[in-house]
Amino acid sequence: MLGRLPPAWHDALMVADAEAIAQAARLLEAGKLVAIPTETVYGLAADADNPQAVAAIFSAKGRPANHPLIVHVAHSADLSHWATDVPSEAKQLMQAFWPGPLTLILKRQTRVNDVVTGGQDSIGLRCPAHPVAQALLKQFRDGQGGVAAPSANRFGRVSPTTAQHVMDEFGEPGVGPVAAVLDGGTCQVGIESSIVDLTRIATHGPVMLRPGQISVQHIEQQLGRPLRLPDQAAPRVSGSLDAHYAPKTPLALIDVGVLAETLIALQARHQRVLSLCIDANVPGATRMSADPSIYAHDLYAQLRRLDQAGVDLIVVEQPPATAEWQGINDRLQRAAFDSKGVLARLLA
Ligand code: TXA
Ligand code: MG
Repeated sequence: MLGRLPPAWHDALMVADAEAIAQAARLLEAGKLVAIPTETVYGLAADADNPQAVAAIFSAKGRPANHPLIVHVAHSADLSHWATDVPSEAKQLMQAFWPGPLTLILKRQTRVNDVVTGGQDSIGLRCPAHPVAQALLKQFRDGQGGVAAPSANRFGRVSPTTAQHVMDEFGEPGVGPVAAVLDGGTCQVGIESSIVDLTRIATHGPVMLRPGQISVQHIEQQLGRPLRLPDQAAPRVSGSLDAHYAPKTPLALIDVGVLAETLIALQARHQRVLSLCIDANVPGATRMSADPSIYAHDLYAQLRRLDQAGVDLIVVEQPPATAEWQGINDRLQRAAFDSKGVLARLLA
């Protein structure tokens, strides 16, 4: 699979050498969908200035049309093409964290396609650090274009962190909706970017819409002021819907203190359960790292693996409630949506 490119390169998994990256840039310019590696998760990319191509992302994912997409730009890109009234705080954060796993929500330029912004008056911008993504963005439209890319999974599901995960979601490249998958290895961070809204900074201050590897504390340190939590008027984020990032198998997030007894009770009711543990001493459990960076790196691959086992329940030991675990806890809580109800049913 990772060998030389076959003649029909456009419908292949492409090893991310210079030639493959150049070909991926041409495919994007031709209006095709290409799955690309970033340091967080794989993205399903299209030319942000091509409304038909962007619309194809929504139909491939089964994503509601009013959910905005993040536009990915090269480090050298001119942001005035996308955003207007960019506050000094945005420049501070870009300087500190770009390229990297941080998305900024800014006021949009009116020329930006509504299909990208979900009709909102803001735009999400991110400059990814993955060398393959950067190389691609430099070549695509000579480094001045933008690539709209949500995570390369079907709506509501676990984000992909390998090229194989993308193919598990969308099938072989060229056969399904995705023209090519650019293979950049396993994503280093493993969970989606942190998202900070700066569109209402004058009235509401900076708002943390989605925590990620870059924590609230990191961002507050840079800004020298506190981040707010989203209120009703904050821009919509589909990743903040309650049931999101979820495997198909029900998932329960359980405190380490009651984990062993819960598993015994489930076993007594003949429920088939697999678990992810950090500290809990559970026979047969998949052991996860106590280092949050490594945990995040491994999390989605493990959830996908457990999801394929066809069990009744995935049990996850609740990680610590400290700052470094924020992004992970956010994703686990959404994946465990309704876990109390599920547990009650399985233990009935
Ligand atoms: O790490 C990431 O952010 C990955 C990689 C591929 O860059 N992308 C990603 O995209 O996670 P997606 O679409 O799965 O999640 C992006 C989130 C969505 O919840 C979307 O609603 C929000 O960002 N978003 C995008 N543009 C927005 C805007 N203008 N206002 C508010 N939220 C926005
Ligand atoms: Mg997503």
